[in-house]
Amino acid sequence: MSIIIDTLRESALHIDSLLKDTSTSYMQSINVSGDTQLEIDVKVDTFLSEKLLNIPCVKAICSEEQEEMLYSAHTNAPYIIAYDPLDGSSLIDSNLSIGTIFGIYNEELNAKNLIASGYIIYGPRLEMIIAQEQALHYRYNGSIWRNLGALQLNTKGKINAPGGTQKHWENKHKAMIESLFAQGYRLRYSGGMVPDLHQILVKGGGLFSYPATSDAPNGKLRKLFEVFPFAFVYEKAGGFAINGTQRILDLEVAHLHESTPCFFGSQSEINLVREVYE
Ligand code: AHG
Repeated sequence: MSIIIDTLRESALHIDSLLKDTSTSYMQSINVSGDTQLEIDVKVDTFLSEKLLNIPCVKAICSEEQEEMLYSAHTNAPYIIAYDPLDGSSLIDSNLSIGTIFGIYNEELNAKNLIASGYIIYGPRLEMIIAQEQALHYRYNGSIWRNLGALQLNTKGKINAPGGTQKHWENKHKAMIESLFAQGYRLRYSGGMVPDLHQILVKGGGLFSYPATSDAPNGKLRKLFEVFPFAFVYEKAGGFAINGTQRILDLEVAHLHESTPCFFGSQSEINLVREVYE
């Protein structure tokens, strides 16, 4: 396992430098989720897939940018890594933070088999969260990764990060979001899952929601590459992740690119979501 984490740490430095140097123009290709790919999306995906497939304890990988699972030569190895190489890459032109999300599964691609997860955040600073027993926060200081300690959510926060197009929200969802603002919650939403969820973790609480909408009844965010890894991080930080009624990490996966509505937050906000959605 530690060799996977070390590889991701080294890869973060390389991806951070690629982000500064590579063209961010759109290519002709569209990925499996229907997003037009940037040259940097493809470059980072190719780089990471080669690195991860070379690790002796990795049996297979799957990427948000690729339709099928890719198998390594290590057929008896235990781990499968699912990752989103550059989540939020459409924000690069506006120079907002973006990230790499990863989940490490033991033997099978199933939420119950997730044994570690995390993300790298490329912002003014290069940081990484690695969740195993705890959700540990690391920052690169130019020569080493410093451990800043474990992230821990309070039982209630102040941030409201509501995803999706508002005109496609259900009325009950709209009323819930408005009720949070009425209680004094502040809007904090960049449109990048990594910085938006990271901000809630670092500031100690709040709610991130990406609900079912009339144009996306299963939500937008994908279970294996985005939602399960963040659910694992949130639970290790003392928070919660649900799809409205069920715990995210109890959900099954029907196919690699399946999406789900999702709500991440501290206890008070997730209790509210349950009241509204149950
Ligand atoms: P992309 O990688 O295409 O930029 O998508 C970003 C994802 C995720 O990071 C974010 O939470 C969500 O899309 C935002 O979607 P909305 O703009 O629909 O709120």
